[in-house]
Amino acid sequence: MSTAFCPVSIKVLLGVSGGIAAYKAAELVRRLGERGAEVRVVMTAAARSFMTPLTLQALSGHEVRCDLLDPGAEAGMDHIELARWADLVLVAPATADLMARLAAGLADDLLTTLALATTAPLVLAPAMNHRMWRHPATQENLARLQDRGVRILGPAQGDQACGEQGPGRMLEPDEILDALALGTLSSGIGPRLAGRRVLITAGPTREALDPVRYISNRSSGHMGYALAGSLAARGAEVVVVSGPSALAAPHGVELVPVESALEMEAAVMARIGDCDLFVAAAAVSDYRPQAPARQKIKKDQTELNLRLVKNPDILAQVAALVQGPFTVGFAAETQDLEAHARTKLTAKGLDMIAANLVGGETGGFDRAENALLVLWPGGRRSLPLSPKARLADALADLIVERYLAQAPSQDS
Ligand code: CTP
Repeated sequence: MSTAFCPVSIKVLLGVSGGIAAYKAAELVRRLGERGAEVRVVMTAAARSFMTPLTLQALSGHEVRCDLLDPGAEAGMDHIELARWADLVLVAPATADLMARLAAGLADDLLTTLALATTAPLVLAPAMNHRMWRHPATQENLARLQDRGVRILGPAQGDQACGEQGPGRMLEPDEILDALALGTLSSGIGPRLAGRRVLITAGPTREALDPVRYISNRSSGHMGYALAGSLAARGAEVVVVSGPSALAAPHGVELVPVESALEMEAAVMARIGDCDLFVAAAAVSDYRPQAPARQKIKKDQTELNLRLVKNPDILAQVAALVQGPFTVGFAAETQDLEAHARTKLTAKGLDMIAANLVGGETGGFDRAENALLVLWPGGRRSLPLSPKARLADALADLIVERYLAQAPSQDS
C-alpha cells in the first residue's frame, strides 16, 4: 500500500449514495485528509439513511451538502461554484440507481447535478448486490459511463452484506486511494510525465473494399483510450490517433480520428518528431485491398476474389527511427504468449511490449477485462486480470517507471 502524500492540496468532492457501503465513506474522508486532500462531501437522500451528515461533517471539517434547493447552503458556495471548486469528483459508494441516473444524464438531486456541471474527472466506486451489478441494465449504464471517460474503480469480488457472494463489494478506502494516485493529479509536485509528449494509436482500422464496404476487426479502442487517460493523468501531453471507435477522448487528451492504416501511418509520422513516448495500442489491419473499387461492387459474379497487400507496420517504423521515442507495442497471441511476445519485442526493436492471450476466457479485444504480460529487454511483469481502466493505470505506471529508468537525466 502506498501512502503518497500530496503536498499541494487536491480538492476532492466526495459523493456518497445510498448503499450499506456508505459506512466506508467515513474512513475514506479520513484517509483522503491524511493524504493531504481537501474534502467536501455531498450525500444523496438515500445515503443519509445509512450514515449521518454530522459524522462526515466532523471528519471533513466542512458542512455536508445534501439538497440542491437549500437556500442557506446555496447562499454560501452554490452548486455551480462547488462543481468548479472540485479537482476530482469521487462517488463512493456508487449505487446501481446512481449509476443509472448518471448514465441518463439526470440532474434530479445535488450530486447528479454536480456531476453534470463539473469539468473535473469523475470516478465511481460501485457497490451493490452482485445480481444488480451483473444485470444488463447496470452493465449498459457502466459501458455508457466508461465511454464518456468516467473512471470505475471496482467493484471487488467477495462476501456481500446480503450474505451472498460475487462482484459488487466496494473497494476498501485505501485501494480506492491507491488507484486514484492523488499525487499525479496535484499540480504542485510535478507529475512524473509533466512536459512529456505521448502519441498513442488506438482502435481498429478500416480498409475500404469499395465506397460502402470495408475490412476491419473487433477492437473497441478501450485499452488505448484508457491508457491515454492514465498517461494524461500522470502529466503527459497526450494525442490519440484513433481508428473508428464509439469512445469519447478522455479528459485532456487530443483525438486525431483516422480510418485506414495508411491514414494512421501518415497521422503518426507527421507527429512523431517531438514525441517522447509512442504506444501502439491500435489493432491495425495487417492487409488492405490492393485496389478498392471506385463504385459499389455489384453481386453479378458467382465468385469474388480479393487481392490484399500488406500494410506498413507503424510500430516497427517508429521503433526504427534514429533517436526515436520510447516505444511500447502490444501483442495478441493465442499460444506461447511469452515466447512470441519476446520475439516481437526483439524483432521490432521495442522498449516494451504488453502481451495478452486472446481467444480464451481471460480477456481480449471486445471484453471489459484483460490481463497483460509486460516484457522489456531483461525484464517482465504480470498485470493480473482486471477491468481495462485499472489495467491501464497499472500499465501506465510501468511505462513511466521503465521510461524514467531509461532516461533518468530527463526526469523532473
Ligand atoms: N502494429 C502497427 N502497424 C501494423 C500492425 C501492427 O503499428 N501494421 C502494432 C500494433 O499496434 C501492436 C503491434 O504492432 O502494437 C502488434 O504487432 P503485430 O506483429 O501486428 O502483432 P499481431 O497482429 O499479433 O501479429 P501476428 O499476426 O504476426 O502475430
